[in-house]
Amino acid sequence: MSPQRIAIRGNLLDFTAEPAWGDTESGAVRFRPDHWLLIDAGRIVAVQADAPDAGWPREDHAGRLLLPGFIDTHVHSPQLDVIGSYGTALLDWLETFTFPAERRYADADVAEQGAAVFLDALLARGTTAAVVFPTVHKVSADRLFGAAQARGMRLVAGKVLMDRHAPDGLRDDVAQAERDCLDLIARWHGTDRLAYAVTVRFAPTSTPEQLAMAGALCRDDPTLYMQTHVAENRDEVRWVGELFPQARSYLDVYAAAGLLHRRSVLAHGIWLDDADRAALRDAGAQIAHSPSSNLFLGSGLFDWRAAEAAGAAVSLACDVGGGTDLSMTATMRDAYKVQALAGQRLTAWKALYAATRGAAVALELDHEIGSFEPGRLADVCVWDWASEPVGARRMAVARSLHEKLFAWITLADRSNLVSTRVAGVERYRRPVTGVP
Ligand code: GUN
Ligand code: ZN
Repeated sequence: MSPQRIAIRGNLLDFTAEPAWGDTESGAVRFRPDHWLLIDAGRIVAVQADAPDAGWPREDHAGRLLLPGFIDTHVHSPQLDVIGSYGTALLDWLETFTFPAERRYADADVAEQGAAVFLDALLARGTTAAVVFPTVHKVSADRLFGAAQARGMRLVAGKVLMDRHAPDGLRDDVAQAERDCLDLIARWHGTDRLAYAVTVRFAPTSTPEQLAMAGALCRDDPTLYMQTHVAENRDEVRWVGELFPQARSYLDVYAAAGLLHRRSVLAHGIWLDDADRAALRDAGAQIAHSPSSNLFLGSGLFDWRAAEAAGAAVSLACDVGGGTDLSMTATMRDAYKVQALAGQRLTAWKALYAATRGAAVALELDHEIGSFEPGRLADVCVWDWASEPVGARRMAVARSLHEKLFAWITLADRSNLVSTRVAGVERYRRPVTGVP
């Protein structure tokens, strides 16, 4: 018997398809109260109402909520150190707080310790898969991949490319960057649950020559991901217009360099137009919507409905340290607030789907993560509906499943999280004495 064989009892919630906008009674929601999730050798092998036979070790979480591990599609590992930095919008924030903090990651020990703290913090908030920016330094990506491998996590990451408009100690050059990327790809892309993303910080910090090199890497290996930022802030968009006068739009800078494809993850996308959204759809690329960051930096309100209407995929991301919280429930409630400010309402189902199966589909990883389908790796979280009396009262009066899940998203934080499993192995357990 595999040591990872285990049957977990609880209220299972996942999705069979994408819920429609505004539909609070979506048929895409699969809620299976009081069921057993059977895990063998790290994979989900069955979901059943009946208790398994005596050969199965059991964990009884009856009454608790079981969700697939959350997928965060855009977060910066070294930016734990700049969360909650006061008083600036994007470009000043980068210069004043973020670039100085990222310089420290040239040091292998700093990079290694930072990666461990970062990934453990994700696991302690129910995030089991992530698309991550380390820094420009090769060692920062190498240590991040190593730490993810040690935890069995699904991680997409890559050394940040920046060969201009960044301070000393944070710039590479085209030739060295290409060598570093190729080394890291050879070492990590396709190793265990890790994948490499060609990581262009954003158009202003790469020369056209570096963008062309990045595009060539993507063309040479279509299994690589690409991650970057796009159209986050109006001053940034203006600057890109000055730097790339021949481009039709900010997004077009990436498209022209061969950086827009099915495995492209573009953070923000607030200041896009219809042609951009159509280009995203045609390429099969996704927007990593980062509501906490957009509110904190005052960047703007993402038009989720327009992206959806155009057929462009949208996933959810915390974007720490522009974002203020690594938690995906915090990200979901900020997403609701952003849509409310824009005159729209985001259902709990849209939010949960975007952070689970929706992100998995957009990343072409739905065969591995995002749902409780048999055959998927068992990235599974057990949550309490409430961790204190206010939540308990609210849960007690909820009349429908949507009302309950929506209030849960609004109130749940990491103290609600009981257990996080990655490929069947428990990697976080809430301490009996309370959250550390
Ligand atoms: N644009 C370029 N770099 C960054 C970053 O680190 N954070 C955010 N939010 N936007 C960026
Ligand atoms: Zn970012």
